[in-house]
Amino acid sequence: MIKKCLFPAAGYGTRFLPATKSMPKEMLPVVDKPLIQYGVEEAMEAGMNNIAIVTGRGKRALADHFDVSYELEHQISGSSKEGLLTDIREILDDCTFSYTRQSEMKGLGHAILTGETLIGKEPFGVVLADDLCVGDGDGVLAQMAQIYTKYRCSVVAIEEVPHEEVSKYGVISGSALEDGVYLISDMVEKPAPDETPSNLAIIGRYILTPDIFDIIRETPAGRNGEIQITDALQTQARKNMVLAYRFKGQRFDCGSVDGFVAATNYFYERWKELGD
Ligand code: G1P
Repeated sequence: MIKKCLFPAAGYGTRFLPATKSMPKEMLPVVDKPLIQYGVEEAMEAGMNNIAIVTGRGKRALADHFDVSYELEHQISGSSKEGLLTDIREILDDCTFSYTRQSEMKGLGHAILTGETLIGKEPFGVVLADDLCVGDGDGVLAQMAQIYTKYRCSVVAIEEVPHEEVSKYGVISGSALEDGVYLISDMVEKPAPDETPSNLAIIGRYILTPDIFDIIRETPAGRNGEIQITDALQTQARKNMVLAYRFKGQRFDCGSVDGFVAATNYFYERWKELGD
């Protein structure tokens, strides 16, 4: 059973300026919830109730969001608005939150390594909150936890992307072990379309075994001069094994305006159905 989930959330969110000038990009709301809350709910659903967040300068709103706001609660107590805080209260009752700060932006691999102090020596999930995922049935992390339970190795979530878009992602190639599960033979961070091993792109959900920390420590800077988790996973795949899992469901790239608007439309429909 995986108990911890790491949220690298120190990035500047430059693609959403000026909205993210003084507000963390993880706090951008999709309908009525900030992006990171969707990710935390997905982790909770997968049984990962220890939430570890790697923050940075200007990210205090994240810690405030996952805390009680006595004044606000007092103000709306007994009113029709009280119900709006039910979900977040459940999260606060069921989860613990811990934080550490990444003082330099040196890539996703470096952000994950910064979280080591919160994770220790156990397998853990990783959620990149700007990839907003909706599972068919189980959530994507819960699906991945089942794959981990069976194979006991690191697992990355993948989806097919149009060939010309591979350079936005880490890309894998491998052989199918079972329906939707691949044994990775090669991984490349943001390849050019004419050099890509496939069009199977890694999306922002990972389950990692803790030996990844020592591997990241030994991983030199790669694409864009940053320490890439994809490079560390490639080493882990050679030493041991790493799986790619084609998740069942849908993912919105909320780091882009198009994806963000698509997610908003999708959740707006759901919100209307629920009659909120
Ligand atoms: C990161 C990873 C990349 C992965 C992507 C998923 O890239 O480095 O391998 O495909 O997340 O969202 P970023 O989007 O931070 O540039």
